[in-house]
Amino acid sequence: MRRRYRIGVLYTRLRVEEKWIFAALERRGVDYERLDDREIHFNLQDPQFWQGFDAVLERSISYYSGLYALRTLEGWGIPTVNTARVAEICGDKWNTSVALERAGVPQPRVRLAFSVEAAMQAIEEMGYPVVLKPVVGSWGRMLAKINDREAAEAILEHRATLGSAQQNVYYIQEYIPKPGRDIRAIMVGDRVLTAIYRNAEHWITNTARGGQGTLCPITPEIEALCLKASAAVGGGVLGIDLVEHPERGLLVNEVNHTTEFHTAQPLSGVDIADEIVAYTLQVARQHVMEGV
Ligand SMILES: Nc1ncnc2c1ncn2[C@@H]1O[C@H](COP(=O)(O)OP(=O)(O)O)[C@@H](O)[C@H]1O
Ligand SMILES: [Mg+2]
Repeated sequence: MRRRYRIGVLYTRLRVEEKWIFAALERRGVDYERLDDREIHFNLQDPQFWQGFDAVLERSISYYSGLYALRTLEGWGIPTVNTARVAEICGDKWNTSVALERAGVPQPRVRLAFSVEAAMQAIEEMGYPVVLKPVVGSWGRMLAKINDREAAEAILEHRATLGSAQQNVYYIQEYIPKPGRDIRAIMVGDRVLTAIYRNAEHWITNTARGGQGTLCPITPEIEALCLKASAAVGGGVLGIDLVEHPERGLLVNEVNHTTEFHTAQPLSGVDIADEIVAYTLQVARQHVMEGV
């Protein structure tokens, strides 16, 4: 007899993506529960409630809430999408860069420093312009394109004086003169579901910042690069950001582990939400079968 799986969905706000995911769960008649991460807490000595789920899909907006939830669930042996390890790598840009480099995935040149002086030296060696990013962050927030030494001095001083401990870790990337767009590919398991260009006048192309989506054909090159990037970070449901370097071709800029798809789903006509649900059910099934 086919077993009915019970799925938990951990989320923060009902973005359109979560609405589509819930609708897909309902269409499939899946037994599921909505778990608002602002309402739940974990009692480490009492996992019973959570052990009622065959898998938990994590869609938290906060990197830290999501990561701690995944670590807790993993500790209790409950399968999750994505895994704690994948969240740890993708939620932190330096961890992602390290994983990509180890796997030989092409990416922009990048350096890490821990003091204003060392960051200044790294920037000068790299050459202008550079892009300074918080290691944890999204929606294009707090990114700085630094065009010259004076701007570097000002931004580094501001970060050192006003920034959090985390902002005193300096992630410094070469600026890629991309053609007014970047590419967001959505992967589920070993499949690239769809890809969109994000076009913008501004160098920051996030749709959250006004970037306009258009469909991007999934070339064999895009597919191969995405598969490699996914394997490098541990796989799962991923949003992969690619930039087109005029000479070096496609580079992986970052990998997102709780990707939004409000633009990609309607543009492509691919039911990404349903694919995520199918993947989560597959993870649940696998876990149940392994337990038999
Ligand atoms: N090194 C870079 N060179 C050129 N453009 C960049 C670079 N880094 C980021 N961008 C632009 O800024 C956007 C946001 O950067 P990203 O690293 O993806 O941060 P976030 O996590 O905030 O989305 C990218 O989609 C891209 O358009
Ligand atoms: Mg991004």
